Amino acid sequence: MSESLSPPFVATSRPRIAIVGAGVIGLAIGWKLAEAGCRVDIFDAGKAGAGASHAAAGMLAACAEAEPGEEALLGLNRESQRLWPGFAAALEAASGLEVEYRESGTLVVALTADDAARLRHQHAFQQQLGLPVEWLTGAEVRRREPHLATKISGALWCPQDHQADNRKVAAALKAAALTTGLSLHEDASVAKVASTAGRVRGVMVGDDLHPADIVVLAAGAWSRGVDIAPAPPLPVRPIKGQMLALQMDPAAPILSHVLWGPGTYLVPRKDGRLIIGATVEEKGFDTSLTAGGQLALLTHAWRALPTIEELPVIEQWVGFRPGSRDDAPILGPGALEGLVFATGHHRNGILLLPVTVRAITDLILAGRTDPFAAPFGADRFRPRAAAE
Ligand code: GLY
Repeated sequence: MSESLSPPFVATSRPRIAIVGAGVIGLAIGWKLAEAGCRVDIFDAGKAGAGASHAAAGMLAACAEAEPGEEALLGLNRESQRLWPGFAAALEAASGLEVEYRESGTLVVALTADDAARLRHQHAFQQQLGLPVEWLTGAEVRRREPHLATKISGALWCPQDHQADNRKVAAALKAAALTTGLSLHEDASVAKVASTAGRVRGVMVGDDLHPADIVVLAAGAWSRGVDIAPAPPLPVRPIKGQMLALQMDPAAPILSHVLWGPGTYLVPRKDGRLIIGATVEEKGFDTSLTAGGQLALLTHAWRALPTIEELPVIEQWVGFRPGSRDDAPILGPGALEGLVFATGHHRNGILLLPVTVRAITDLILAGRTDPFAAPFGADRFRPRAAAE
């Protein structure tokens, strides 16, 4: 089967693009392609920006979340982190809406001697990779965040790991996309990508065929449910995360930086919302909030930042990360000519937004493979025998 998408494929100067999924990834790709002159339709089974784009915490944590064995993913994450300030500025200009990209940095704190030993080990790995991460003593970290638990024994300071308000990003992307004149179809579930002789013809919504030259599958955790036969379904599954938000006094917030502690992270917003996340659960699309999940989040958060005790709980919710087989995104040509994947972003959908948009629009408009995205093609999941 073809996995190429070279410029001659886009036979018309105004190709018709159907995007499946109106999360931040689908909206941003649609915005940029429509801006470049393509005729764009975006379809979503629900409302735009209501899935993981709404549920996320908006951490742009390339350094704090760096894991051994994920060096190629780190390159992609760092490139996207570099693109974020320009992306946020362009989005705010196009939409007239703020996205609250905040250069506040991230602290990863240790509460026990064991935590500290683990963080020291992580720090050595981060230094080996040349990442901008510093070690802070307990006293130094409490000077930056006076409300932290007194027993904090040390912390990693990640000065380039910032945050954006993902809900504001989604709202701004919807507004920017709509200014281009593209068509956004909400409550329009795409069941199937229609194809003939290995080449896409469009998407099926119920019995209706919406013709398209190119189909971008950006349906996050729901990507596997879109029939792309004769190609096999994408190996993407939902990874449930429970979260909650407390309300701080915005004039006297008890936390200024993004904070990682054992078992939890806390993200302070400008309006005083303090987001606490997140569980990691293999439960399919189970939307229940559980006592155990919420208790664990609050207990871990309280151990790191005891002052949360008196804060009101203002929201609790569940989201679904789109997890691929190796937890890295799936970017690039699909197994049908004209099919493009932009999904599987797992824990990093907001972080990876700018680089994903660049990779996918470059591919569609110029047939160019982004060097940072190149290792993340769907072909890495093909059975060896079929790949040879
Ligand atoms: N990146 C945060 C999360 O997946 O919970």
